[in-house]
Amino acid sequence: MTKKKILFVCLGNICRSPVAEGIMIKKLEEKGLSNNFIIDSAGTSGYHKGELPDSRMRAAASKRGYNLTHHSRPVVEKDFDEFDFILAMDDNNIYDLKAKAPSVEAEQKIIRATDYCQNLNVDYVPDPYYGGAEGFDHVIDILEDACEGLIKRLTSE
Ligand code: 4NP
Repeated sequence: MTKKKILFVCLGNICRSPVAEGIMIKKLEEKGLSNNFIIDSAGTSGYHKGELPDSRMRAAASKRGYNLTHHSRPVVEKDFDEFDFILAMDDNNIYDLKAKAPSVEAEQKIIRATDYCQNLNVDYVPDPYYGGAEGFDHVIDILEDACEGLIKRLTSE
């Protein structure tokens, strides 16, 4: 079986997408599915290139059992070849990704992460960077729901 390759994308790659990556990796491990997937994350900007996730996000993730070790990197054109699914957090990410996509086929890989939510009625993952601690917990709630739905969809195909 060829591995499914999933890239989570947000603006800075220090809050939402690295926690999405951490959630997805842990859920796949728990379900014994790790060998079937390659998971990564990136930012539409390179503002925080090389940095570990924001300390507030690492603290919120750690409370739920996620250890985030990803280092921020910007999306590069090769990602559109390499990955099968590119999951964006909000409208701005989708707009920026479309601008970077080298072809129509590449553009079609861009998906809204919240499309996979099964329990929460949300249509984007809010940027928690300038808000309080509860914003980080809310991001994790949404992404746990989305990752569960995504795994269900991909393993039932
Ligand atoms: P993220 O959050 O896109 O979820 O990683 C942000 C991180 C940094 C900034 C904005 C959002 N920033 O403006 O530096």
